Amino acid sequence: MEKIEISSKSISEKIGFIGGGNMAKAICEGIVNKGLLKYDQVYVSGPNLNNLSVWKEKGAQIFTENGKVVEHADVIFLAVKPHILPTAIANMFDTLNENSLNSKLFISILAGTPIEKLENVLSKLHGSRVIRVMPNTPMMVGEGCTVFSPGQRATDRDIELVRTLLSVTGVCKEVPESLINAVGALSGSGPAFVYLMIEALADGGVKMGISRQLAIEFAAQTVLGAAKMVKESGKHTGQLKDEVCSPGGTTITGIHALERGGVRAAFMDAIECATKKSIEMSEKRH
Ligand SMILES: NC(=O)c1ccc[n+]([C@@H]2O[C@H](COP(=O)([O-])OP(=O)(O)OC[C@H]3O[C@@H](n4cnc5c(N)ncnc54)[C@H](OP(=O)(O)O)[C@@H]3O)[C@@H](O)[C@H]2O)c1
Repeated sequence: MEKIEISSKSISEKIGFIGGGNMAKAICEGIVNKGLLKYDQVYVSGPNLNNLSVWKEKGAQIFTENGKVVEHADVIFLAVKPHILPTAIANMFDTLNENSLNSKLFISILAGTPIEKLENVLSKLHGSRVIRVMPNTPMMVGEGCTVFSPGQRATDRDIELVRTLLSVTGVCKEVPESLINAVGALSGSGPAFVYLMIEALADGGVKMGISRQLAIEFAAQTVLGAAKMVKESGKHTGQLKDEVCSPGGTTITGIHALERGGVRAAFMDAIECATKKSIEMSEKRH
């Protein structure tokens, strides 16, 4: 198969966002910060222009009609809350010029909303292609974790475009749609689990007399450093842990306390529960 390459320096496509909230801002800011896109290539819609003023200040065009975004943009991110999708799509078709009922690429970031459902609601836009994406908020700082699953009509170029756009905001991998709920639990919800862990580490430090400010800074830096060690050393996490645990020492004593507290099982339960919740929510909506 011919390899399709898209310049990682800049893209010419116009990018739209239906819904200009937190995730849309995180994605766009991440891509613009890396110089791949300029705000004058961006079109955003939402029900309230005042809430979109920050986009306008940066140079994007803003609309209350979702159809206008589809008219102007080549690629449209669906970035509303999942329960808002029917209203947002109804508004899109109501405000879309008849001559603009052409095929477009839609990138959905909606949690728990299957590709099949997205393809159905967009079927009036003849031949529209869908790629489902599960992003996470650390993409705001260039350390995101994004997975995507292409719909049945997505082309190789669409896939490469999504990969190019999202790789600049961190790690980006293609997975089968059946894994999106589990990956969403790990990397989409994961930052919240890690914030809780950082807070708990810092609480321990404060209890032992460290100032709150220093405790938070050191807890966060320790998590960052440990993550880098895992990624860059190529060593198994068990080996890295063993290397820090001297016989009869302080670290193995702390590890014992964590194991007694069931911390491993608690993290595994968190991922299992979040995955099941995501599946349950998508079945309810489907
Ligand atoms: N947050 C995460 O970590 C995360 C991770 C993965 C996936 N997601 C997914 O990302 C999506 C967006 O989440 P978010 O956190 O960015 O939510 P958000 O901040 O509430 O943004 C949603 C946006 O949609 C706009 N909106 C409401 N009704 C609309 C309509 N009829 N047409 C067009 N726009 C409309 C809202 O505008 P107003 O504010 O003016 O009402 C708001 O700007 C969700 O589907 C979620 O599942 C989120």
